[in-house]
Amino acid sequence: MSSSSPIVYSFSLLLSLALIFIFAPEILPSQNPFFSPHDDHDDLALFNKALRSASSVHGRGRGHRRLRISRLATKNPTPKIAFLFLTNSNLTFAPLWDRFLRGHSHLYNIYVHADPFSDVQILPPPFESHLIPSKKTERASPSLIAAERRLLARAILDDPFNLYFALISQHCVPLHSFPFLYRSLLGENPLRAFTSQPRHRSFIEILSDDPNLPERYAARGDGVMLPEVPFEDFRVGSQFFVLAKRHALLVLADRKLWRKFRLKCLNLDSCYPEEHYFPTLLSMADPEGCSRFTLTNVNWTGSFDGHPYTYEAAEISAGLVRRLRRSNSSYPYFFARKFSPECLPPLMDIAEDVIFRD
Ligand SMILES: *[C@@H]1O[C@H](CO)[C@@H](O)[C@H](O)[C@H]1NC(C)=O
Ligand SMILES: *[C@@H]1O[C@H](CO)[C@@H](O)[C@H](O)[C@H]1NC(C)=O
Ligand SMILES: *[C@@H]1O[C@H](CO)[C@@H](O)[C@H](O)[C@H]1NC(C)=O
Repeated sequence: MSSSSPIVYSFSLLLSLALIFIFAPEILPSQNPFFSPHDDHDDLALFNKALRSASSVHGRGRGHRRLRISRLATKNPTPKIAFLFLTNSNLTFAPLWDRFLRGHSHLYNIYVHADPFSDVQILPPPFESHLIPSKKTERASPSLIAAERRLLARAILDDPFNLYFALISQHCVPLHSFPFLYRSLLGENPLRAFTSQPRHRSFIEILSDDPNLPERYAARGDGVMLPEVPFEDFRVGSQFFVLAKRHALLVLADRKLWRKFRLKCLNLDSCYPEEHYFPTLLSMADPEGCSRFTLTNVNWTGSFDGHPYTYEAAEISAGLVRRLRRSNSSYPYFFARKFSPECLPPLMDIAEDVIFRD
C-alpha cells in the first residue's frame, strides 16, 4: 500500500469495488483431473487476477471513477475476516459456526473449497452458496497448498475489505466468540484497521528445530530444493494459519518456492508440503511480520499416522474448552481441532454459556 492519507486510502478502496464488479469471478465448479499443468495454469491466471485487483485497491484511481464507486462501497466498507474452509468431507460443525457468526454478517466473509470428488454435496448454513471453484485435494501432495492459495485468491478478488484470512478445516471448532476474535485481530476502530495494515501480523507457526526436518526436506530427492530453498531456511508449522492481507498477497505472488514445493514427493511418509510451504515462504520473506505461533490448538500428543488426537463426545466439557484456549503466546487459542462429528451436540450445549463467553 502506498497511500499516506487515510482519506485517499479509503477512496482507493472504493475504486476497487467497482473493478471487482467488472471483473467478478465466475462461480462454476470445475472437474479437472488432479493437478495437471492445465490446473496450474488456471491457478496462475486466478492468482494474477487477484494480485491485479489488489494493486488497484492499493494504487490510485482517476477522480470520475472514485465518484462512480463510492455509491457501491457504502454498502459495507468495514474491515472483515475471511474464513477459508478447506474440506473433503461434510461440514459437520456448520451449526456451531452458524451460531458463532450469527449477527456479524457485516464483519466476515466465508469461502469454501470442497474436494469435488468427495461426498460433500450440500453445504448447510452458513456455508451455502460460498463454494469456490474447487479441485481435487489429496494428502501427501501439493494439492492442499494449491487449494489454500485458491481460497486466498477468491477471497481477495471477492472483497477488498477482507483484511485477515483464517484457514479452517471441517474438524475445527471455535473456542471464543466472534467479537473477541475480531477485536483481537482488527481492533475497535475500522479506519485504523485499514491504515495499520503494514503492521498487521500473521499468525502462523514457524519452527526450525523439528527432528523430522531433514527427512521432510529430502522428500523430493537430495538437493532438489536448491538453490531456492536452502535447508537452513526450511521450516515447518501446523497447517492452520491466520494471514494478514499483505502476506496473503505475497503467497499469491510466489512462483519461486512453488516451483519446488509442487514437485512430487518420492518419500510419501515424509510428505506434508502444506506444513512447510507457508512457514518457509513467510519466514524467508517477512519473519518479523509473523507471530510464529498459530491460533489453532492441535493436540499432537499421541498422534498417529500424521493425524492429531481427535476428541470424542464424552470428552467435551467446559473444562476442556478452557484447557484448549490456554497458550504460551500473547494470544489465547481461538480455534481447535480435531473433533469427531459426534462432538456436535455436546458442543452446541455449551456454546452460549462456555464457548462464546470469553
Ligand atoms: C454427507 O452429507 C450427505 C447429505 O448432505 C449424506 O448423503 C452423506 O452420507 C454424508 N456423508 C457422511 C460421510 O456423513
Ligand atoms: C491431548 O491428547 C492426549 C491423548 O493423546 C490426552 O491425554 C490429553 O488430555 C489431550 N490434551 C488436552 C488438552 O485435552
Ligand atoms: C507452555 O510452556 C511450558 C514450558 O515450556 C510447557 O510445559 C507447556 O506445555 C506449554 N503450554 C502450552 C499450552 O503450550
